[in-house]
Amino acid sequence: MIEKTTELKKQFEDKIAKIKATTDLEQLKVEFLGKKGLITSLMQGLKDVANDKKREAGLAINSVKQFIENSIEHKKEDLAKLEWDLKINSTPSYDESLCCSVEHGTFHPITLIQREVEKVFETMGFAIENYSEIVDDYHCFEALNIPKHHPARDMQDTYYLSTGQLLKTHTSAAQNHIMRKYGAPCRAIFPGRCFRNEAIDACHENTFFQMEGIMIDENISIANLIYFMKTMLSEVFGQEVEVRLRPGFFPFVEPGFELDIKCLICGGKGCPSCKDSGWLELCPCGMIHPKVLEYGGIDTEKYTGFAFGLGLTRLAMMKYGIKDIRTLNSGNLKAFSQFTNQ
Ligand code: DAH
Repeated sequence: MIEKTTELKKQFEDKIAKIKATTDLEQLKVEFLGKKGLITSLMQGLKDVANDKKREAGLAINSVKQFIENSIEHKKEDLAKLEWDLKINSTPSYDESLCCSVEHGTFHPITLIQREVEKVFETMGFAIENYSEIVDDYHCFEALNIPKHHPARDMQDTYYLSTGQLLKTHTSAAQNHIMRKYGAPCRAIFPGRCFRNEAIDACHENTFFQMEGIMIDENISIANLIYFMKTMLSEVFGQEVEVRLRPGFFPFVEPGFELDIKCLICGGKGCPSCKDSGWLELCPCGMIHPKVLEYGGIDTEKYTGFAFGLGLTRLAMMKYGIKDIRTLNSGNLKAFSQFTNQ
């Protein structure tokens, strides 16, 4: 029996050394550890071992079994790492060193992603609206339930103009205008450039793009919000994405959420891109606060709605593998020509 266990161990070692894919590893696990596997049949052979040798044989089988279990676990981790590296390296990403001629004009990556998102929402019946970059305090804050001295104003370091107007700090600034223009029911998205007085580094810019969306109708609920976001993101990323909502505070929505998507690189297992959490924060959203609907002239007895503020800049960086946000405002034509037709 001891010989048989030693042989089995050797057989296992030979086989596991050749394995290169997780699926083959699963098969090997079944072959050795499954209900009808080789370890089980060794265990069954114990009944034929002489009584005084049973204990020694049992211990030997258990130790091989443990060895096999541990080896499979280690191999699994190694394979996951390998597969992750492969995936990362095969994801098309922006190559700073690539030299290309710039004979034709090309679209900016933000424009590309914006058009893609617009196309998806258009097919779902959303109107696309443009709104100015210079707005007043009322639209950027007051009409969004952010009164003067409200702590939420601290979240946004605003550029004020000498006229008393300001550069819009978020696309939510157009919500009131859109509600007044369309009334209810209404479905609209409004992309735009936003400005905040941020110190600039690889992850922060003072000029960035968002895409706001609102949908107002009778009986609109969080389920509608999840459905629209999931559909849109699956289309944009070209694969089914899983989403989850976490509570988030924004004065203009109640309840407010942070919408995360399951990390597309590691599939939720955890990797450097998602800081090992398996999820990526993508889009704040929520059910529009009744006060905001009222400011927009909407009958709150009859209508409810959801709103979301998608970070277009962040989305473009994720989709095109752009690691430094400053690339986007650099005006580097060589860099941008790489994104055409992606
Ligand atoms: N306007 C917010 C910001 O830029 C983002 C946001 C949060 C927009 C929640 C929304 C929302 O529409 O529902 O920080």
